[in-house]
Amino acid sequence: MCPWFESRWYHTQKTGGLRSACFILDLFQMKAALALPPEIHVDPQFKALRNWLDEHTPTSVVVVTDPLTEKCCLPLLNPHLPPGTQFLRLGQHGETIKSIEHAHALWDSFEGMGMDRHGLVIALGGGTITDLTAFASSTYLRGIDFWLIPTTLLSMVDASIGGKTGINFRGLKNRIGTFSSPVGVSIHTAFLDTLNAREMSNGWAEHIKHILLTSASAMELPWENTLSNAHSDAFEAAILHSIGIKAHIVNQDALETNGTRKTLNFGHTSGHALESWAIAQSEDLKHGEAVAWGMRVALKMSELHAGCPKSKPGDFDGVSRSLAELIPLPCVPPDATTLWERMRSDKKNLGDQVKVVLLDGPGCPKIDVTVALSDFEEALLQLPDA
Ligand SMILES: NC(=O)c1ccc[n+]([C@@H]2O[C@H](COP(=O)([O-])OP(=O)(O)OC[C@H]3O[C@@H](n4cnc5c(N)ncnc54)[C@H](O)[C@@H]3O)[C@@H](O)[C@H]2O)c1
Ligand SMILES: [Zn+2]
Repeated sequence: MCPWFESRWYHTQKTGGLRSACFILDLFQMKAALALPPEIHVDPQFKALRNWLDEHTPTSVVVVTDPLTEKCCLPLLNPHLPPGTQFLRLGQHGETIKSIEHAHALWDSFEGMGMDRHGLVIALGGGTITDLTAFASSTYLRGIDFWLIPTTLLSMVDASIGGKTGINFRGLKNRIGTFSSPVGVSIHTAFLDTLNAREMSNGWAEHIKHILLTSASAMELPWENTLSNAHSDAFEAAILHSIGIKAHIVNQDALETNGTRKTLNFGHTSGHALESWAIAQSEDLKHGEAVAWGMRVALKMSELHAGCPKSKPGDFDGVSRSLAELIPLPCVPPDATTLWERMRSDKKNLGDQVKVVLLDGPGCPKIDVTVALSDFEEALLQLPDA
């Protein structure tokens, strides 16, 4: 039985030889039942962090930031840090920091400051800072404690939850990484006050993914209303709800062995391909923007693909249009074949096959659906406009 959701909404089923994890959950009914896993804290005063520090008395504490999170976010955290805390500010920000060179720079600094196995590393930033810092910490001295303080919407609802760390390699997203959980995660929505509108939309992509994966009524949600007012109760509830969904899915399949966690790759096979292409082309494209586009492709493939009989023509077009409106794609994607080559080299694919997550219907994801280049091309041709 799931500790933070009512158990009735989760079941798995076999469908036509393909595994399908089917989640049925009503967003509003579930709100009351929602509770966060023990290491995740709604922590505006950083009380959970301070308690942990008092209890564990680490030999050293270091906070990792990028130039923007140092400026915008560190002032909120600083008064709560113990004396002697050290600071490491990376010279760059954004996807470019998820590199072996930046991991090397962190390891170098850990060495230089005499970090031992009883130190604590605190990551203060978006998903790039939390992914990189968690990766460097989980590999240094075979793993030292780290605490995540996500400062973007995307990192709050997704990147800081679930224990995946990673850096990019040879232009491929998250090619190198570990499964390693933080000792704590502090959620403080005031950090979002300095985030621009584009970064906010970017974060909603992963939230909408969580809702599409789990809610039978995903198509009727008043997204725009809930998502536009950063200070409403509904806004904060949406963040916590998203965290709960991700944590619940991860809890079923922490190391991605039984398929449940794979559902989180919805929109990511073509999304990652587009993102990797954008990195190689120096195009300005954010992860959530790529995923929103990838979800639109996956929705169309769900509709067209014979293996997903519950979706009928036009079923998902409304959701797809809302996604395009809320999270517009800032670049023109390359041709299907270019992306297909990148989709084939996604670490989740075996050999030449491209396996994707599709939806049998809203709230009903289906993993390991094998698609061909022609399916992908057809979906791209039929994407509805915003
Ligand atoms: N580990 C996981 O499970 C997981 C899940 C989803 C995404 N991710 C990863 O997360 C990354 C994307 O994360 P992101 O969208 O947070 O991007 P990001 O970390 O690049 O942050 C976006 C930008 O906002 C700035 N910023 C951060 N917080 C700010 C604040 N409060 N005010 C003003 N500016 C701020 C950053 O400096 C950066 O320029 C991708 O690399 C993706 O692969 C990981
Ligand atoms: Zn993602």
